[in-house]
Amino acid sequence: MVKISVTDLEGETRDIDAEVGMSLMENIRDNDFDDLAAICGGCCSCCTCHVFVEDGFDKLEAADDDEMDLLEDNVHFQSGTSRLSCQVEINDDMAGLKVTIAPEE
Ligand code: FES
Repeated sequence: MVKISVTDLEGETRDIDAEVGMSLMENIRDNDFDDLAAICGGCCSCCTCHVFVEDGFDKLEAADDDEMDLLEDNVHFQSGTSRLSCQVEINDDMAGLKVTIAPEE
């Protein structure tokens, strides 16, 4: 488990114990954040798991082309912070990660 910080759409921040080996999206949803729709279930086809990585972006593996295509089509895309949380697998180096759930389009 690693401690990460998640802020919802109301601006409320909560620290969660994220399970290593699971996606960031699964960890956020398993901790009862209702703002993350993640409607495709992690197939990299919906963009409703979009988050802004406020702290620790450099600890993440780079997004692949499919993820970047979806993100760059999103009106809320921010270069250098936007990621699809279903494409980020939690590892032990990610302690202290801070993410904010992005608004839906
Ligand atoms: S859950 Fe659909 S792209 Fe991440």
